[in-house]
Amino acid sequence: MRIAFIGGGHMTTSLVGGLRARGAAPTDLTVADPVATQRERLQFDFGVHASGDNAAAVRDADLVVLAVKPQDMAAAAASIAAELARRRRVVASVAAGIRIGDLARWLGRGTPIVRTMPNRPALIGAGVTAACAGAGVGPADRAAVERVLSAAGSVVWLADEAHMDAVTAVSGSGPAYFFLLIEALEDAGKALGLPPATARHLAVHTALGAGRMAAEGSEPPATLREQVTSRGGTTAAALAVLERADVRGIFAEAIAAAARRSAELADQYGEK
Ligand SMILES: NC(=O)c1ccc[n+]([C@@H]2O[C@H](COP(=O)([O-])OP(=O)(O)OC[C@H]3O[C@@H](n4cnc5c(N)ncnc54)[C@H](OP(=O)(O)O)[C@@H]3O)[C@@H](O)[C@H]2O)c1
Repeated sequence: MRIAFIGGGHMTTSLVGGLRARGAAPTDLTVADPVATQRERLQFDFGVHASGDNAAAVRDADLVVLAVKPQDMAAAAASIAAELARRRRVVASVAAGIRIGDLARWLGRGTPIVRTMPNRPALIGAGVTAACAGAGVGPADRAAVERVLSAAGSVVWLADEAHMDAVTAVSGSGPAYFFLLIEALEDAGKALGLPPATARHLAVHTALGAGRMAAEGSEPPATLREQVTSRGGTTAAALAVLERADVRGIFAEAIAAAARRSAELADQYGEK
């Protein structure tokens, strides 16, 4: 499968890096980016073909990945529309807040489109991406897109594009909530007298261990929490403070705000 990436920034770098690490041939991967230094870096690091011409980059591709910033998406899509009209190819977008309907308008109505929402840990292969298929996307197209996305982490499919705003709020913005929690844990450790480096190490590795237990085991997070909370113990004392402050309500409100903002941005980039 030959894959063309439009935009050679962070997201493309992680997808191309992941695909190469999994044995994809460099000759099957082409990246288009307007910046020469960006192209040289990708050529040097991964041996892939890099071009300054978007239409030329997609000409021989079986799958196209659009990986430009949301505000650049209309122009990037328009630059390959004529080429896509010549032959059927599936197009996957990784841009936050760009709807399938808008992509179809820019790329041509017949183009099979998959809208995806990766998150930041994709840059180290530990991301989670939600994907939603538009009209005309078949099982083989889905499998091809999933193969590319899984180079950056796990993939979940959504049946309803309307859920993309919730996905953006939960997993797209989600790493920031965990970074905030790590910061708070580190600061609290320092306030209790721990050396700064020790406080950071404890906070970061506690987050990592808890995440791995939640991901790798079969127990739901609530059970894992109960298992580390003995009655009258230290964890119970901390959780009582968090529950009294309605930490769950605060998170619900914060994530609802992110979902509303996601919908607003999609309106701004495309047609309402
Ligand atoms: N990075 C993340 O953590 C993350 C997470 C989730 C989703 N995403 C999504 O992934 C997409 C890409 O993000 P990124 O972080 O990889 O961005 P990035 O590092 O800025 O890369 C985008 C690249 O595309 C180039 N470009 C701009 N217009 C173009 C055009 N018309 N044709 C070809 N290339 C063009 C840019 O060049 P210039 O610099 O000259 O503009 C830049 O090199 C975004 O839509 C974002 O929403 C990113």
